[in-house]
Amino acid sequence: MNPIERIFTTILTVMFGLFGAIVRGILGAPATAVRKLTAPLSIDRARTPEIIDLRHQVLRQGRPRASAHFEGDNEDATRHWAVRQSGQIIGIATVLGRPFPQGDGPRWQLRGMAVHPEHQGRGVGKALLSAIEVEVGEPMWCNARTSAASFYERQGWQRRGETFDIPDVGPHIRMIRDPQAGAIDVQG
Ligand SMILES: CC(C)(COP(=O)(O)OP(=O)(O)OC[C@H]1O[C@@H](n2cnc3c(N)ncnc32)[C@H](O)[C@@H]1OP(=O)(O)O)[C@@H](O)C(=O)NCCC(=O)NCCS
Repeated sequence: MNPIERIFTTILTVMFGLFGAIVRGILGAPATAVRKLTAPLSIDRARTPEIIDLRHQVLRQGRPRASAHFEGDNEDATRHWAVRQSGQIIGIATVLGRPFPQGDGPRWQLRGMAVHPEHQGRGVGKALLSAIEVEVGEPMWCNARTSAASFYERQGWQRRGETFDIPDVGPHIRMIRDPQAGAIDVQG
C-alpha cells in the first residue's frame, strides 16, 4: 500500500468509527431511557441517611440540606421506606409515631412522601403509599400539600379541617386514612 492509499484508508477508518459511534449514541440513548423506566421496582425499608438526598431534592429544594432532616427521623418507632430501581432511590416516605393533633385520631403520621421528578406520574407514589398502608396496618394522618391532596384522596384519604400555611413550604391540609372508618366529618 503506497502512502496515499494508507492515508486514504486511515481517513475512511476514522470516518466509519465516528459514524458508528454517532449511530450507537442515537440508538442507545432511547434504549437506556426505556431500560431506566421499565426496570423492576422494589419497595422496602430504608435508613435515614439513604432518604435525605431525595427528600432534600423534592421537598426542600433551594433550602439548606439540614432542612431535610425531620424531628424524630431517628426515633425507634420511626420507619422510612424507599422505592428502588436499578440501585437508585426514586421514591421515599416516612411514618412517625405522632398523635393526630386534633383530639382522637390516628397515632401514626405520614411525612416526607416524595417521588423523583423523572418518575412522577408513573404509579410509584401510589405503589409506595399502598405498601406503607399495608405494613402500618393502622389509621394514619398527614399534613398534605394542597397540591398533592387529590393524590391522597385517590388512595382513600380524607381531608380534615381547613387549609393552613407551613412557612417556607406552602399551603397544607390535614388528611386521614382510616380503612375501617366510614365517612369522616370533613369539618372536624
Ligand atoms: C405527590 C407524589 C408523591 C405522587 O407520586 P406519583 O408517583 O407522582 O403519583 P402516581 O403516579 O402514583 O399517581 C397516582 C394517582 O394520583 C394522581 N396524582 C398524582 N399526583 C397528583 C397530584 N399532585 N394531584 C392530583 N393527582 C395526582 C395520578 O394522576 C394517579 O391517578 P390515577 O390513579 O387515577 O391514575 C409525587 O408526585 C411527588 O413527589 N410530588 C412532589 C412532592 C409532593 O408534593 N409530595 C407530597 C407532599 S404532602
